[in-house]
Amino acid sequence: MIRRRVSTRLIPLPYISKIGASTFATQAASFLQDACESSIDWNNLGFGLMETDYMYTIKCGGKDDDFKAGKLIRYGNIELSPCAGVLNYGQGLFEGIKAYRREGGGVFLFRPQENAIRMQKGAQRMCMPSPSTAQFVDAVKQTALANKRWIPPPGKGSLYIRPLLFGSGPVLGLAPASEYTFLVYASPVGNYFKEGTAPLNLYVEDEFHRATRGGAGGVKSITNYAPVLKAISRARDRGFSDVLYLDSVNKRNIEEVSSCNIFMLKGNVLSTPEINGSILEGITRKSIMDIATNLVYRVEERSITIEDVMDADEVFCTGTAVGVAPVGSITYKGNRVAYKTSTPLVSKKLYSRLVDIQTGVVEDDKGWVVEIN
Ligand SMILES: Cc1ncc(COP(=O)(O)O)c(C=O)c1O
Repeated sequence: MIRRRVSTRLIPLPYISKIGASTFATQAASFLQDACESSIDWNNLGFGLMETDYMYTIKCGGKDDDFKAGKLIRYGNIELSPCAGVLNYGQGLFEGIKAYRREGGGVFLFRPQENAIRMQKGAQRMCMPSPSTAQFVDAVKQTALANKRWIPPPGKGSLYIRPLLFGSGPVLGLAPASEYTFLVYASPVGNYFKEGTAPLNLYVEDEFHRATRGGAGGVKSITNYAPVLKAISRARDRGFSDVLYLDSVNKRNIEEVSSCNIFMLKGNVLSTPEINGSILEGITRKSIMDIATNLVYRVEERSITIEDVMDADEVFCTGTAVGVAPVGSITYKGNRVAYKTSTPLVSKKLYSRLVDIQTGVVEDDKGWVVEIN
C-alpha cells in the first residue's frame, strides 16, 4: 500500500487566491486527478494517514470572538506554543466525515450539518468558541474539493475529513485558551478494522471506563480517546477486534465501543443504549434508527445490561469510520457468546439501505446527502 504523497504537481498558492477557492478546487481537482489515480492502490486502502495536498484553517481570539474567513493552505505541520491550551489541558474536539464518489459522477457528503452541530455542542462543553454550521460545512467542502484527486473511485473507499477545533493560544493557569484554531485535513481511507468487513470480536472491559456521568463522554473531546488506548491494546493483544465499555456507576449497562455505537436485535426490536451524557450521539446511529423505523423494526433507546446483549439475536456497531459492522462474538468475564453472522443479517439490510441512500440507488427523501461539486 502506498502511504506517501505521490505527486508534487501541486497548484501554486498564489493561483488559488487569484481564482478563488471554489474555482480553484474544481480546476485543481481535474488537473491533478489523473496523476493520483494511476499511483494509488485503491483496492488496498486501510485506515491510515495518507498525506493529501491541502488543509483548511481559521483562527479566532478568545471565547467571545468569532471565526472569520478561513483559507486553504498546503497540508503540513503546524506551529504551536508549548503552552497551548490543547497541549496542556486537552482543550480540543474533533469530527469525522466522509466524502465519496458515486457511479456516474459527483462528490457527496453525508449529513455534514450534524457534525457541525455536534462540534458546537462540544465546544460549549469545553469552553471554546465554534465555527457556525455554514462555516463548518464550507470548510469541509473546500477541503474535499481541494483534495479531490485523493477521493477513491466509487465503491473503493472515501476521503475521510477530520475537522479539529482546539485551544491554540498559550495558557499557563488552568483556564480557557486565549486563541482557537479550526483546522480541517483529509486522508483517503478504506476499511476501519483490519478484519475488513468480517464480524468483530468484542471484549467487555470491566476495569477501565471510557466515560463517566458528568464527564465529557457525550462530546467528541480529544480527552476521551487516549484513556482507552490501554484497554484497546490489551484487547487486541488477546486477539479481539475492539472493546465494549460498561457504565462506570454499576458496571452493568453497555455503553459503546471505542469509536462506534452499538445496537442489539432481539426479535423485531432493535435497541441501543440511551444517550445519557457518557455515550457519543453518533450520526450513523441516528440514521440507522431512522432507517430501521421505516423498515418497521421497533427501535428503542434504553439501558441495556450486559446480560441483555449476551442474549441478543444479532449485535452490530455503527460509526462514520466503521459503517455498520456486524459483531461475531462478545466475551465477558471469560464467557464468549457467538452471534449469527451468516446472511440474512438485519445489520446488512440496514447498512445496504444506508449505502443506497448515500450512493443515490434509492431516493434521499430526508435530505441527508449533500453534493459538493
Ligand atoms: C466514541 C464514539 N462513538 C460513536 C461514534 C460514531 O459516531 P458517528 O456515527 O457520528 O461517526 C464515534 C465516531 O465518531 C466515536 O468516536
